[in-house]
Amino acid sequence: MFVELLPPSVRRLIAAGEVVESPADVVKELIENALDAQASRVEVELIKGGKKLIKVTDDGTGIHPEDLPKVVLEGATSKIRTAEDLLTVNTYGFRGEALHAVSSVSRFTIRSRHFSQKEGLELRVEGGKAGQPVRVGMLPGTTVKVEELFFNVPARRKFLKKEDAERRKVLQLVQEYALARPSVSFSLTAEGRTLLRLKGSDHLRRAEELFELSFEEERLEEPPVSLRLLLARNVKRGKYLVFINDRPVDNRQLKEQLRRLFGTKSVVILYAHLPPYLVDVNVHPKKREVRLRRERTFYELLRRLVKGSFSSFPTPEELLASPRTPYRPTYELVGQLDETFLVVREGEFVYFLDQHLIHERYLYEKTGQEEKACRASVKAGKKLTREEQEELFKLWRGLENPHVCPHGRPIYWRVPLKELYERVGRKY
Ligand SMILES: Nc1ncnc2c1ncn2[C@@H]1O[C@H](COP(=O)(O)OP(=O)(O)OP(=O)(O)O)[C@@H](O)[C@H]1O
Ligand SMILES: [Mg+2]
Repeated sequence: MFVELLPPSVRRLIAAGEVVESPADVVKELIENALDAQASRVEVELIKGGKKLIKVTDDGTGIHPEDLPKVVLEGATSKIRTAEDLLTVNTYGFRGEALHAVSSVSRFTIRSRHFSQKEGLELRVEGGKAGQPVRVGMLPGTTVKVEELFFNVPARRKFLKKEDAERRKVLQLVQEYALARPSVSFSLTAEGRTLLRLKGSDHLRRAEELFELSFEEERLEEPPVSLRLLLARNVKRGKYLVFINDRPVDNRQLKEQLRRLFGTKSVVILYAHLPPYLVDVNVHPKKREVRLRRERTFYELLRRLVKGSFSSFPTPEELLASPRTPYRPTYELVGQLDETFLVVREGEFVYFLDQHLIHERYLYEKTGQEEKACRASVKAGKKLTREEQEELFKLWRGLENPHVCPHGRPIYWRVPLKELYERVGRKY
């Protein structure tokens, strides 16, 4: 007999490796659990980049004392009951896998006080072996301590990166969840030093605080889908972040789409909310990738959001059913400025469009050649007749991507009319 079933203890270690490969993976699972428990505050502490200690404290609902010993068992979850529940799941967790995995490969302590209780209960698990729970005094909520990650899996421990690389990964992860759930306060300390401290806020302010940039915001409510897009232009290095139902996801296609739409010098944060049955999160061991059903409809909505035409939207069903003529906002060409810009008004905004970049973008979209497009296009410093201005303006409105030139420069600068009014002390 050559084929043998592996003993459960070995299988557990192998399976744990799918969910947890680094301190950042542990932090991710613990933050998600805290958020699933309605925490309004999540504190993360690290020692040695998380290799020695990871501690996550929340002020969520807590775990009932009867449930505490169960949470480290394989497949133990309070979040779903049946396979059908997967279609409506709106929590980060649903597999009942994370704490089981983490407690199999570390010295693990969980203490929790359920909101209905006067005291907490603490459970220690060493490399998968649970001790007896003991009562502890604590505030309502949950604290999980993960010490000496992979102490019993040397092969995994060897693959951990240097302390500061692991710490950076954790920082980035905490920032992502802070963006995902801006109403929640987050803090991160390492060796007792504060790396991040964020008070509960809203999407726009949290992004501005984290990136130290100012963002424009566009929103589109098209039931059952809602999109929110935050955009900062003219940054050194572009960044594209996607959140689907508050879950940070790596969707390469979507990020590529955002890069194409906004160029390489923008920070773009896309929040999409859609019914859980349209999103399959159960395709990746760490849930970092999701599959969208009706993906085409989604992209179509995104394109329209980007074009800034929010008012007369078809429903997703209509969009699917028939190709529609695109909605045209009302633009008014004001004129040419400084032999370089077209000035255009659209609704609440005044646009200053770079005449060279419009033409360049147009030629690029027609021929697909960057260099040629650049050389052949109208230069700045050329006076345009009214007809020429109108011609160019029409070209701009027909562009597939009216926002950035082929080299990634923004085509226009847009000022809210409201701001113009307010600057001169008028009401808008
Ligand atoms: N911070 C917490 N506050 C309250 N309950 C918690 C907390 N962490 C874990 N739990 C409870 O423990 C259970 C097991 O957690 P675990 O992360 O292992 O699984 P899950 O979140 O249900 O699914 P997944 O494996 O997909 O994360 C949860 O379903 C929840 O009931
Ligand atoms: Mg979980």
